[in-house]
Amino acid sequence: MRNRADLIVGIQWGDEGKGKIVDLLAQKYDAVARYQGGHNAGHTIWVDGVKHALHLIPSGVLNPKAINIIGNGVVVSPEALIKEMKQFDNLLGRLFVSESAHMILEFHCQIDRAKELLKADKAIGTTGRGIGPAYSEKIARSGFRLAELRDVDALCGRIEEYFKQNGAIYKAMGIEKPDMKKMRDQLSDFAKTLLPYITNTTKLAWDLLDEDKKVLLEGAQGTLLDIDHGTYPYVTSSSTISAGACIGLGLSPKDIGKVIGIVKAYCTRVGNGPFITEDSGKDGIRLGEQGHEFGTTTGRARRCGWFDAVGVAYASRLNGCDELAIMKLDVLDGFDEIKVCVAYEIDGKQIDYMPQDIDSAKPIYRVFKGWSGSVGVKKWDDLPENAKIYLQEIEKLVKTKISLISTSAERNDTIILD
Ligand code: GDP
Ligand code: IMO
Ligand code: MG
Repeated sequence: MRNRADLIVGIQWGDEGKGKIVDLLAQKYDAVARYQGGHNAGHTIWVDGVKHALHLIPSGVLNPKAINIIGNGVVVSPEALIKEMKQFDNLLGRLFVSESAHMILEFHCQIDRAKELLKADKAIGTTGRGIGPAYSEKIARSGFRLAELRDVDALCGRIEEYFKQNGAIYKAMGIEKPDMKKMRDQLSDFAKTLLPYITNTTKLAWDLLDEDKKVLLEGAQGTLLDIDHGTYPYVTSSSTISAGACIGLGLSPKDIGKVIGIVKAYCTRVGNGPFITEDSGKDGIRLGEQGHEFGTTTGRARRCGWFDAVGVAYASRLNGCDELAIMKLDVLDGFDEIKVCVAYEIDGKQIDYMPQDIDSAKPIYRVFKGWSGSVGVKKWDDLPENAKIYLQEIEKLVKTKISLISTSAERNDTIILD
């Protein structure tokens, strides 16, 4: 039987620490692949005090032996990708980008920002990176794919045609048709730089698995931001859950092996939308300070709150998580009491599942005793007793085994359990 690809997926609202775990595991993988999202993602890796922030290039790039794949389900800003590629040497033969991936061009970003302004107090709080408009065009069958960089004249013709059809609507939003001379020059530059990397990544992924190579799939964003299963409409525009990897790379469900859910020991959200366990008081502020909770992509302050075991159990089931990696345990150091949401109350009734409409849900908390001294711990036995109790209860509430515990941003400050 051929090899199966293992998968890393965020099981809250993103920024769980996926980058750290992908980088750590990637040291033992032959290939790492992104399958959805775009440069709205910000995956941070710290190795020996040096920070690496990745947005589009998979977090396997720090393993010189691993190849990195950007699959067809990703929306790619050529400009952002080229900028990010400059940080690394010798990417040719190590980075492969799907010819079927859709492009984000400058006007997609303008549309994203204009729509947010029009939504006023109902704004989603997007990253402004053009993600929604690029995916909308893909679904509407009028998007622009990377393969089209092979014929820039034909691509410019399609962009002209696109503005003939949509220009009036965009003009009403204050968005002008791009200067086509500048656009042609820019697209030619993109083509020159990117074409050597653009290929059929589905065939590549199949070949790797057929050759018994170890492939790791890197989710972006988080389960509760999923277009179908998240807190719609306050979500991103892609399928962030494990199933999205099949579509976003051309794999079958049978190609997926182990699924690891990445989850913070508390919870954060950046952007608008419901957040049942949000703490807007002093504990939330303290979590933000101790956890340095500022967005890797936009620099925005993240909203902070407590671990929501109902939401995480829902996400674990949706993704088929075999294991959990609990991140940022150290950030809870020094709290006297730590809360975990174990059920929701809606209209006076208690429920233990994620309802469709969670706006009116209130958290029911169980309170745990705090601890100190978890920073940088590398062995289970060295963890404070109250931290062990906390983790054991989380495992029971989420009904998923914990296999990794992270105690600082550094690659090696990680407890690996058998
Ligand atoms: P991602 O989007 O899921 O990859 O997560 P981000 O990189 O956006 O945000 C996670 C942040 O937490 C980054 O700044 C990481 O360096 C940091 N981080 C990851 N794991 C730990 C940990 O165990 N402890 C602490 N204190 N920071 C961590
Ligand atoms: P990583 O991969 C956290 C959020 C935005 C906004 C919503 C929609 O680093 O975990 P979009 O620009 O995607 O249309 O914005 O999704 N969002 C993220 N939040 N982590 C991310 O990525 C995110 N990517 C998008 O803040 O609420
Ligand atoms: Mg992030």
